[in-house]
Amino acid sequence: MSEKAKEGGGGLWGGRFKEPMSERMVPLNRSLDVDRRLWREDIEGSRAWAKALEGAQVLSASEASTLRSGLDRVEARLEEGVPDGVEDEDIHSLVERLLGEEVGEVAGKLHTGRSRNDQVATDLRLWGLRATEEVDAYLHELIDALLDLAERGIEHILPGYTHLQQGQPVRAAHWVLSHVWPFMRDRDRIRHARECIAVLPLGSGALAGCPFPVDREVLREALGFRRVSENSMDAVSDRDWIAEFLFAGALIGVHLSRIGEDLLLFSSREFSFLRVGDGYSTGSSLMPQKRNPDVAELVRGKAARLHGNLSGLLTLLKGLPTGYNRDLQEDKGFLFDTVDTLRLALPALSGAVAGIEFRPEGMERAMDPELLATDLADVLVRAGVPFRTSHEIVGQLVTEAEERGIRLTDLPDSVFESAHPSLGAGARDAFDWERSVEARNLPGGTSRRAVEEQLKTARSRLAEPPSMPIRSNRSTRDG
Ligand code: ARG
Repeated sequence: MSEKAKEGGGGLWGGRFKEPMSERMVPLNRSLDVDRRLWREDIEGSRAWAKALEGAQVLSASEASTLRSGLDRVEARLEEGVPDGVEDEDIHSLVERLLGEEVGEVAGKLHTGRSRNDQVATDLRLWGLRATEEVDAYLHELIDALLDLAERGIEHILPGYTHLQQGQPVRAAHWVLSHVWPFMRDRDRIRHARECIAVLPLGSGALAGCPFPVDREVLREALGFRRVSENSMDAVSDRDWIAEFLFAGALIGVHLSRIGEDLLLFSSREFSFLRVGDGYSTGSSLMPQKRNPDVAELVRGKAARLHGNLSGLLTLLKGLPTGYNRDLQEDKGFLFDTVDTLRLALPALSGAVAGIEFRPEGMERAMDPELLATDLADVLVRAGVPFRTSHEIVGQLVTEAEERGIRLTDLPDSVFESAHPSLGAGARDAFDWERSVEARNLPGGTSRRAVEEQLKTARSRLAEPPSMPIRSNRSTRDG
């Protein structure tokens, strides 16, 4: 390593300085441990930049081709692993140093017209594009597993809750589908974030633009972006797309925590509506009988990080003056952590969902006839009684049963009849789970037909390709 590299600047800006960087400053300044995983994107961006400089006649054809084959060799070296224990400040300076080792002095021409400000913004967006494709695929897998579970739950009826109190019966499939739609919206949000990411910053220089006649359209095309940034000062400091991505991640966290909570409740002995497989549960080192569906708690817990990352990034961005500021170096940690967290949580949950077994006996045991109180009130409504009155009448019947310490269905016929003549014949018919769910047959309801329709809609929504095509030439390898 050159003397300048040891000074901490890696030869990037040492000319201006008389004294080396303080040893106390070096570790604060370095970001290599975090941004090392951008090496592929850095090389990809540099290849495109070398070509653009050639097009602008800043580089001769032979210089450009030397740089390109040098970058190929750097790529091959980094393929073996980004070296540990090096003193380079960040991944950009490391790649540039290795390129120098490969091709000598001409390596110094690559940075013409480019700044690390537009370079890092470009690298990170390239990484972000790939990461959104990956998250999209994880969500696809999870939704698919939930739809299979919903199909297995069409026949079963369980208590539907509001305020965690039994409300009305619903098909188990309907409950599962209530978790599908939030994840479907998450996928829309991730896809929207991709569109925000696909704006090319390269060609913005440090802040004021590039003075060489580089064709940004060609660059955009080569790197797979959709648009070229409109303002160089904005382009080097715009991290809105990370906020969009992290918000999508934070909301996935909310949804993970909610389904996690339901799975925990529903698999507990008190509910016993379903069983989470052994592969996603743990035991206790002390209590031999324990079998905890930890997957559900772990994904609920991961929501905290997903929320923290969004809040951290917003705090980082707030109040920054125009242009690039070094604070922005912190952006990567939040982004990487959200993607890493989703990489852990989503596939684990998909696997757990695929192995869930419904326990219809548990559902039946839990269902109290009071779940049909609304249906009873509807019997009166159909006989012409205003709903508010029928609500009152049925409410009194529920109290009556409660006072006698019996179930609503065990009240004698005479009590129903004296509550209202129309309840003489109709009351018993209302006490039927199947009839209750089948009555809710409007689109979005819990009847078999409505649920089957919902499943079909969900399947076809899931199959919709993103409006911005997935770039098949990029692998999902990282690091
Ligand atoms: N490591 C830096 C970052 O992540 C690269 C950009 C440095 N730019 C600068 N002007 N010092 O933001």
